Amino acid sequence: MRSEFALAVCQVGMERALKAEVARLRPDLHPGFQRPGLVTFKATTGTFGPDEAPPAVFARMWAASAGPCLTTDAVLATARDVGATRLFLAPRDLAAPDEAPPAALAAAEADAERWRAELAGSVRAGPPRDGETVLDVFTAVDEPPVVGWHVHGPWRHQAPGGTFDVVVPADIPSRAWRKVVEGLRWSRAPLQAGDLVLELGAAPGGGTRAFVEAGCRVVAVDPMPLDPAVVALPGVQVVARRAGDLKLGAIPADVRWLASDAGIPPRDVLRLIERLRPALPNLRGMLLTLKLNDDGVIRHLPSTLEQLRKLGAREVHARQLPANRRDVFVYARMK
Ligand SMILES: C[S@@+](CC[C@H](N)C(=O)[O-])C[C@H]1O[C@@H](n2cnc3c(N)ncnc32)[C@H](O)[C@@H]1O
Repeated sequence: MRSEFALAVCQVGMERALKAEVARLRPDLHPGFQRPGLVTFKATTGTFGPDEAPPAVFARMWAASAGPCLTTDAVLATARDVGATRLFLAPRDLAAPDEAPPAALAAAEADAERWRAELAGSVRAGPPRDGETVLDVFTAVDEPPVVGWHVHGPWRHQAPGGTFDVVVPADIPSRAWRKVVEGLRWSRAPLQAGDLVLELGAAPGGGTRAFVEAGCRVVAVDPMPLDPAVVALPGVQVVARRAGDLKLGAIPADVRWLASDAGIPPRDVLRLIERLRPALPNLRGMLLTLKLNDDGVIRHLPSTLEQLRKLGAREVHARQLPANRRDVFVYARMK
């Protein structure tokens, strides 16, 4: 079944950026009802299918929308009407990442748990099979849940709300660990055991640790010091300088992946990539956390991604993942 409406989930505060992107990508979708971190769109020239997911950087997930459902019966009726056999239920985000007060988070999770219990007998939770229709339910304390549905597949969101089921270790040196873990899961970048990663802006080392845990060796470039526990990991070599000061002749020829989380604007990351590219003959891909320093950077994202194509990327995918704050994750496949 199709719908007159689509719904997309984004980071709280990025609704305007999402709507601007959708206006460019899908001018037939006009913004409608919205809540923080959740925007619906009316399909003005046709309908929106549960198999559609426009490639918007700021949309964590898409679904055909049934809008707010006032009662449990209304949610279950929607599940029946659309043939949903799986449940993805998540509390709607309350604030930008890490900004919601813990008490509000606990109340939102308790409310979501109550809805899960009410729906569990009728729609199963758990990972869907490809092709299965999933009911996407977003709960919020004292508000009716907003409901949608999508047809599951390898490139769709894999967990409720477009989040990732990641358990963050207590001893990671930085939030960048989670950004890389989510980025690798989302992109499905084919990292292989022993692959060498050249990582720009590596300190204090959360990203380096995530790459090592993914089986890679890492050349970690940063003028700032890395956490000693990360430096001691097997396969980590530290180069304590700015990326612009790297000598091309000193870069190992077997670098397979170029990663960057350097605290510099995307245009400077592009310049670095252009300079380093001739010294990276075996590059398979780039895994970049690009900083959204200001609205201009957001407006220029399409041309930034286009420039990555001009630098030799065959495919470029970008997404603001749940772990991202004022940044986005980019996967550029070279070979
Ligand atoms: C957000 S932090 C990186 C976090 C890191 N990826 C991690 O996993 O912990 C940004 C880093 O970029 C570094 N940086 C800024 N400009 C750089 C440059 N031109 N070359 C290399 N590193 C740079 C800073 O020193 C800082 O450590």
